[in-house]
Amino acid sequence: MCLQRLCENLGDLKGVILAGGTGSRLHPLTRITNKHLLPIYDRPMISYAIEALVKGGVTDLMLVTGGTHAGEFLRLLGNGHEYGIDRLFYAYQEKPGGIAEALGLAERFVGSDRMVVMLADNVVEFTFRSAVERFEKQESGARILLSRVADPQHLKHLGVPELDPRGRVVRIVEKPEDPPSSYGVTGIYFYPADVFKVIPTLEPSKRGELEITDVNNHYVDLKQMEYDVLEGFWGDGGESIEAYYEVNDFVRGHGANKERDESR
Ligand code: DAU
Repeated sequence: MCLQRLCENLGDLKGVILAGGTGSRLHPLTRITNKHLLPIYDRPMISYAIEALVKGGVTDLMLVTGGTHAGEFLRLLGNGHEYGIDRLFYAYQEKPGGIAEALGLAERFVGSDRMVVMLADNVVEFTFRSAVERFEKQESGARILLSRVADPQHLKHLGVPELDPRGRVVRIVEKPEDPPSSYGVTGIYFYPADVFKVIPTLEPSKRGELEITDVNNHYVDLKQMEYDVLEGFWGDGGESIEAYYEVNDFVRGHGANKERDESR
């Protein structure tokens, strides 16, 4: 349930799901299909990100994918209505040039609206509708969702924020050798339309990609980055074969995208 004003505004919020990339960390499974089509418990991985956005109130979506299995997404999702999607658009990423490059392909779809971006390998235990609503009320800038990550080895595979004593993000380090906090940046991001002016200014990272962390640090530098901390389980099913099975086991035992929303 939401206030009428809020519901009207949510109509102007677009959703972008990123499902490109090579999935090389899940080879050889991903030689024969796209990572996001692999099963998580009883459904293809991508369906969890779709459900998370739809339950978050975002039903105007673009799916960005690439590679040789892109057509399978159309077979799975069609026009999206079965999944609660109002309008579903598709974009094709020619080569895996990074998360930020993939997001750039959604520019004409998003236009002058704001957006929620979700990586299609991310799975959450609880919906994040209250974070969506907080972003709606946010006057400017971007927003990220963090998750507490206890294992420092795990943090080395993520974007990790450094926080000042007041809890503000002062920078985000991608895959840090020495993690500056015990929070991981999840693959759920909220941006204003001017993100499409930021992306063309990025330089490829050492791994040859346009990094979403560089986009986020742009807003951090402007002091226009807010965040929420997710409660409950968060997993990145594409991080490694172990992570893939950890997410599978969790979802099988506990479910995903449940309605209790405990973000900060
Ligand atoms: O899952 C959270 C992490 O995701 C964050 O903590 C990191 O800051 C962020 O960089 C990202 O790290 P990964 O190394 O896990 O990103 P990965 O290359 O696995 O890409 C994640 C998703 O983004 C992937 O499932 C599909 C999409 N993607 C990726 C690339 C490289 C694309 O759509 N196109 C691409 O070219």
